[in-house]
Amino acid sequence: MSVVAHNLSWGVKRKTIVSDVSLTVGPGETLGLIGPNGSGKSSLLRLLAGLRRPASGRVEINEQDIAQVPRKALSRQVAFVQQSAETDTNVAVADVVRLGRTPHRSALSGWSEADETAVRGALARVDMTSRSAQAWQTLSGGERQRVHIARALAQVPQVMFLDEPTNHLDIHHQIEILRMVRDLDLTSVIALHDLNLAAMFCDRIVVLQEGSVCACGTPQAVLTRDILHDVFRVTAQIEGSADAGRPHIRYSAG
Ligand SMILES: Nc1ncnc2c1ncn2[C@@H]1O[C@H](COP(=O)(O)OP(=O)(O)O)[C@@H](O)[C@H]1O
Ligand SMILES: [Mg+2]
Repeated sequence: MSVVAHNLSWGVKRKTIVSDVSLTVGPGETLGLIGPNGSGKSSLLRLLAGLRRPASGRVEINEQDIAQVPRKALSRQVAFVQQSAETDTNVAVADVVRLGRTPHRSALSGWSEADETAVRGALARVDMTSRSAQAWQTLSGGERQRVHIARALAQVPQVMFLDEPTNHLDIHHQIEILRMVRDLDLTSVIALHDLNLAAMFCDRIVVLQEGSVCACGTPQAVLTRDILHDVFRVTAQIEGSADAGRPHIRYSAG
């Protein structure tokens, strides 16, 4: 499924937070969203996922204007992994993941074999099968993050939006999660603040600065010394890597 944004703008009072953003994500593509703190990544993701109405512009998912799609139908297609979502206490890990099945169920339908398979598969994907009975509130931050990703996977979406999904994760799980999202047969948009991880796992990258797109393209095209200097305010060397020409950034401490 494709995601296309046309001239999206959104703000609060007189402050523009997302400014005239247009972008396209092709079917199966993994798009990275990078930008300094406060550049509008989370706000843009929420607009793209239909969790917030733009002041102007529109989003099409699979060529349908999402403002016209009923919420439940939309949530069968689109999953959103929040930056640091909370979940009610006193629930088991598996119950949190089961919530991902809600859009697929009606008031009358019981818990099905398909629901069970989706939940088991999702827990396995994030390496949390052995924790399914553990209480949510006893998990570490990184484990909670993985369970939230499992909940999104259990939804079996065709499009997935993830807001800094690797925060709190150890490096093994950062790489595992991003590799998994890249390899899933779905369209994804991932806000990331680790530029090297964005370079490793994204097909294309959009750079946001003060709510506007200031660059868009392959990691190689976008992660230039000039952008790192002008947008991220760091001095860095860009090294080619053996990994299909993906750039690797080496920051200088001085
Ligand atoms: N609901 C809101 N009310 C007021 N300001 C907001 C609101 N949401 C976001 N902002 C502001 O908009 C800017 C962009 O925020 P955000 O989208 O969270 O950026 P990022 O995810 O790139 O760090 C920030 O300055 C933030 O304080
Ligand atoms: Mg954010």
